[in-house]
Order: sequence, then C-alpha cells, then structure tokens
Amino acid sequence: MAFERFGTMDVNKAGHLEIGGVDALRLVEEYGTPLYVYDVALIRERARGFKKTFEELGVVAQVAYASKAFSSVAIYELMHEEGLSLDVVSGGELYTAIKANFPKERIHFHGNNKTVEEIEMAIDYGIGCMVVDNYYEIELLQKILKKKKAKMSVLVRVTPGIEAHTHDYILTGQDDSKFGFGLTNGQAEEAIRRILAASDEFDLIGLHCHIGSQIFETTGFIMAAHRIMEKLVEWHKTLAFDSKVLNLGGGFGVRYTAEDKPLEPAEYVKEIIHEVKKMAKDNQLSVPEIWIEPGRSLVGEAGTTLYKIGSRKEVPGVRDYVAVDGGMSDNIRPALYEAHYEAVLASSPLDKAEETVAIAGKCCESGDMLIWDLPLPKSNAGDVLAVFCTGAYGYSMASNYNRIPRPPVVFVENGKSKLVVQRETYENLVQNDLHL
Ligand code: LLP
Repeated sequence: MAFERFGTMDVNKAGHLEIGGVDALRLVEEYGTPLYVYDVALIRERARGFKKTFEELGVVAQVAYASKAFSSVAIYELMHEEGLSLDVVSGGELYTAIKANFPKERIHFHGNNKTVEEIEMAIDYGIGCMVVDNYYEIELLQKILKKKKAKMSVLVRVTPGIEAHTHDYILTGQDDSKFGFGLTNGQAEEAIRRILAASDEFDLIGLHCHIGSQIFETTGFIMAAHRIMEKLVEWHKTLAFDSKVLNLGGGFGVRYTAEDKPLEPAEYVKEIIHEVKKMAKDNQLSVPEIWIEPGRSLVGEAGTTLYKIGSRKEVPGVRDYVAVDGGMSDNIRPALYEAHYEAVLASSPLDKAEETVAIAGKCCESGDMLIWDLPLPKSNAGDVLAVFCTGAYGYSMASNYNRIPRPPVVFVENGKSKLVVQRETYENLVQNDLHL
C-alpha cells in the first residue's frame, strides 16, 4: 500500500509521520495512546471549499456541520470560526453548542423523536430552526410554542424515495424510513398544510432531505433535488407555498482506502446548484437558498488515531494478529459496518511492507478487529500505528465497553498541538456508580 497523505500529513526529516507540522511520535510522548489527532488545516480547507463554491455560483447558502460526526466544544468553535452553521440531533449536542457559544440562529435541530425537554431547550436557547420529522412532533412543538407564546422557523423533512449508499442509489416508491414525511405518498403535503395552518407558531421556511451517507456520485442528490423541486412547483400553485430554503442534507463520501474515489466536495455542490437553478428557471420559481449538512466530508479524513502495538499472535497458515491498545471502544465502525481502514507505522510510513497482518483491538470480543489485512513492515511491541481517516463517527461513537476510558482528542495546526478533549480517567468511569 502506498502511503496516501491527507491534508498536511508529511514525513519529516526523522522519517516519522507528521501531521499539522507535528511529529506523531512526539504527540504520543506528550498525550499517550490511543490518541485521536485532527488536522485543523484540512478541516478549514474543506469548510472553505464548500462555502466558496456557493459564493462563486452566487447562491445564498448555509453549510451546516452535521455534528454527529464529531461533537465537542472545540470542533464547534472551529466551525464557528469558519462561518459554518450547525446541525444538532440531541439535547447533548445542543448543550455542547451552547457551551461553545455557537451562534444560536445558525443551529438546526434534527431528530425523529425529540423529547419535550429537548424541544424546550431549543426554544429557550432560540435556535435558528427545527427540522420537523413527523406529525406527532408538529403537534407537540405547536403545543409547547403556544404555551411559551413563541414562534419558530421550521423545515419539513421529506423522504424523496431515493436511498443512496456509496455507488448505489435505490429508488423506493414507498418511503420505508423512520425519518421524515413521504414526498410521494401525500404525507409531506399534509404536513405542510398543517404547519401553514398554524402560522401563529410556525414560520415554514423550507424543506429538508438526507438521502444517505458516504456517497460517491452526484446522481442521487440531483434526483432528490429534482423530485423536491417538482413538488415545489406544484405546491406553489396549489398551496401558495414558496420554499425559501432547500436543505439537501449531507452524505458526501471520503477516502478510507484506495478503493474509495470520492469527488471533490465542490463537485457535489456544483451539480446540486445546477439542477435547482435549472428547475427554478424552467418553472418561473425563485431559486431557494440551498443548505447542506456535511459531517464526514468535513472531519473524516482530518482524523488519525494513534495506537501502541502490544501483543502478537501467530496462527500458522492462517494469519498473524497484531494487537493495539484500543479497538472497537474508540472505533466501532469496522465491527459495526465492516468498514475498512488503512494504517502505517508512525515511525516509518514510507518503509516497504514485509508482511500482511490483522490489526486486533483489545476488547473482549472476537469481532473487535480494526483491519483484517494490513500490509506493514515488521513491527514490534511499542511501535505506534497510525490509522487514517478516523475523524468521523470515531470519537462520537466511542464507548466505555470493557470499561476502557475514551482517548483524548488533540488538534494540530502550524506545528502546534492542542488538547481539546481530555483522556477519560478510571475515576470518570465510576463517577456515576453508586454503592449497594
Ligand atoms: N444530515 C442528516 C440528516 C444526517 O442524518 C446525516 C448523517 C448527515 C447530515 C451527515 O452525513 P455525512 O455527511 O456525515 O455522511 N455512523 C455512520 C454514519 C451515520 C450517518 C447518519 N446521518 C458511519 O459511521 O458511517
């Protein structure tokens, strides 16, 4: 495997992996392992790339960071610095945004089962908009808004009958999803009618859809935009409803391994804009604001996890297991989705591979394997393994399985490192436990 560099990654004079101008082995000395490292310059580059594309094409837009990919105070502060908006899906993510002083008007709240407490928190904080997901929520939200004598901007989440995964997109006549209102079965229209009828509480600003994640082609996005625009043409006439905003969600793919060939983020955006503009022009509608919600494509490739290699078990004629000091507790994706990753020895990323090993985690579960077939130079206990592209859904889906403390998160930029999430301690692990 050739060493594929992400962002500011480099190999320094000592021959070590360097990220953000900082030697990976120095990071390990300072912060220990396992360790999540984020290349801040790459996150900034991605954020600016999305924003610039909209600006160049003269479209009013919001780029909202889908913060489920990696939620922490510091990443919210960084996204704020870059002028992004924020998509949150729980009281916990909203609370984190409040702690980060994220501008409230640029926070969007998603979810198929928002609780009363979460809704009240969102109204009290004065967030920008709620993405309404089902009839129950319309009723509940209206009731709470009435009680608080408040009014809220809402988007209606629709399922356009397109499901996209990596290279496949599936057209589903029926909308078999726990999220949103069916676009083709009349549910979306009914939701819009109900919301428009409650204009004391709701300001219906637009529609939202999200067709999937880790998508490598633009077809699914274009079809979704097309289908929604068709409906907007109809509802302009029948409901006098003009959608100020069209939010097309996230899902832009990233490179985990050499097999993944994502488009430049700007490509997705360009094609979406083209379709929306064309449909608007052909039907004499005004071009809505276009919002997107990238998560993985903003932070995925910027993240690297550093582990220390420990034990080795050789099964003659089968495979050699090389174990690291983390695993499914800090990266559940291989076990959960059979996700693939690439990795190198941080001390010698350019050295030729001499063997293929299986990288095992340390959790008490046979399925806790990080990489099944990794070509690697000969490694020894104590060597540092750098696993690439762990920035999205790694830390955010980490757990304390086997009571393993969650690793810290470090940001690196311009030769400096900054600890932004501390390593959990054993004391943290028992702090909510009570005696018999
Ligand atoms: N907007 C909505 C409404 C979403 O549901 C999601 C992701 C996104 C935006 C961001 O999608 P992204 O740009 O990150 O693909 N845990 C899985 C991914 C679940 C994605 C859920 N929704 C994984 O590790 O692959």
